[in-house]
Amino acid sequence: MPNSVNQFIRPVTCSVNDNGNLEIGGCDVVELAQTYGTPLYVIDEQTLRDICRDYKRAFVAYPKVNMMYASKALCTMATSAIIASEGFGFDVVSAGEMYTVYKTGVDMSKVLFNGNNKSVDELLLALELGVGRISVDNFFELSLLDELAKSKNKTVDILLRITPGIECHTHEYIQTGHLDSKFGFDLTQVDEAVEFILSSNLKLHGLHAHIGSQIFETKVYVDEIEILIKELARLQDKYSIKLDEINIGGGLGVKYTESDVPPSVYTIADLILNALHKAVGKYGIEEPSVFLEPGRSIISTAGVTLYTIGSSKQVPNGKKYVAVDGGMADNARPSMYKAEYTAVVANKPEEKSLQTVTIAGRFCESGDILIHNINFPELEEGDILCVFNTGAYNYSMASNYNRVEKPAMVLVNNSQSDIIVSRESLDDLIAHDITPDRLRADV
Ligand code: LLP
Repeated sequence: MPNSVNQFIRPVTCSVNDNGNLEIGGCDVVELAQTYGTPLYVIDEQTLRDICRDYKRAFVAYPKVNMMYASKALCTMATSAIIASEGFGFDVVSAGEMYTVYKTGVDMSKVLFNGNNKSVDELLLALELGVGRISVDNFFELSLLDELAKSKNKTVDILLRITPGIECHTHEYIQTGHLDSKFGFDLTQVDEAVEFILSSNLKLHGLHAHIGSQIFETKVYVDEIEILIKELARLQDKYSIKLDEINIGGGLGVKYTESDVPPSVYTIADLILNALHKAVGKYGIEEPSVFLEPGRSIISTAGVTLYTIGSSKQVPNGKKYVAVDGGMADNARPSMYKAEYTAVVANKPEEKSLQTVTIAGRFCESGDILIHNINFPELEEGDILCVFNTGAYNYSMASNYNRVEKPAMVLVNNSQSDIIVSRESLDDLIAHDITPDRLRADV
């Protein structure tokens, strides 16, 4: 099977230029850091488009496949515009994500609204903007959405989110009858949900499941499809309704380090389509439309983060810490999940590694370590560190911890760079603060 972009650590345009600096999207990475400051998120447009095209090519044999990019991985208007232009729809999980894609100009009928505790306001916004599908997660939401639909005199198109009894995290895979999960209906609750729907203002189109994230395992998708199709067939038969959609969620993994070996999108597509044909034959139903919600595998490899190296500390007879000007507030994943990353020094990418260092963040917490034990050349203050594969779940999970401004984001392509998210300013940080008058006098 051909390789796909999620199997690479670096963006596809990454190389070393004549100045001996790292280059991405035809832009000198050191110049990007000088021009826009650091920390800086950089998105390589070519890499993003290439993975979208990998997905489309991989599933070309099954025209009823719909790609719904999971916005939670990274949601900005510019990246949404690129992804929409590649023909993808969007999975959104909040008013914020919904509004972002709406303002980008996305066709809202290609948007699916997910989440285990959507608010009344969010559901009303979804109805007003005309999102294509709402994936209903629980009984509370079923009756709430029905009430809202009735009050607006509308029929709302929905999927039912089910818990298929499969859960997969990078290297672990469990399959049980029931799963202790906060998301979705247990399979034993589906009939009651469908019976409610049949006498409501909700129109059920099919079933939705999501089985985990950063998945390397392939068989888990086969099992998921078998469960979804079996359930779809059972419901069609029992209730004489036409259900012609399954949404199999996201989850395909990416390569953060050399030891990560995620499968190719082409392998996954082959497997999914085979499993689908088999299950459809076995349970005797028509081929349904299939929705996929990849997030990380779409945007991760396209993104890198640039930092400037500052202070360092040699612990006597111990580790050498080298600190950068960002850390856990712009990339929470190492401190939150012990996630590992690969990095190079952008102004000396080809120099020999002479030492093992630990890259520390600048935030006031001992756990703010970006990379443990990485081999690097001699480092000086002012060197530019480029951390790969930070496109997903970095900016989208960023915080203002320590009241530090969130970094800017730049899009690079064909030697051109454009700011797509501006750097927060100190005034942005206090923009929502209000000091009641009675407190001012005493300051
Ligand atoms: N669909 C649903 C219903 C989801 O819950 C998720 C992710 C996705 C799709 C997209 O999954 P992906 O293709 O990105 O694996 N913050 C964590 C990841 C949390 C994923 C949550 N759900 C991290 O940084 O690793």
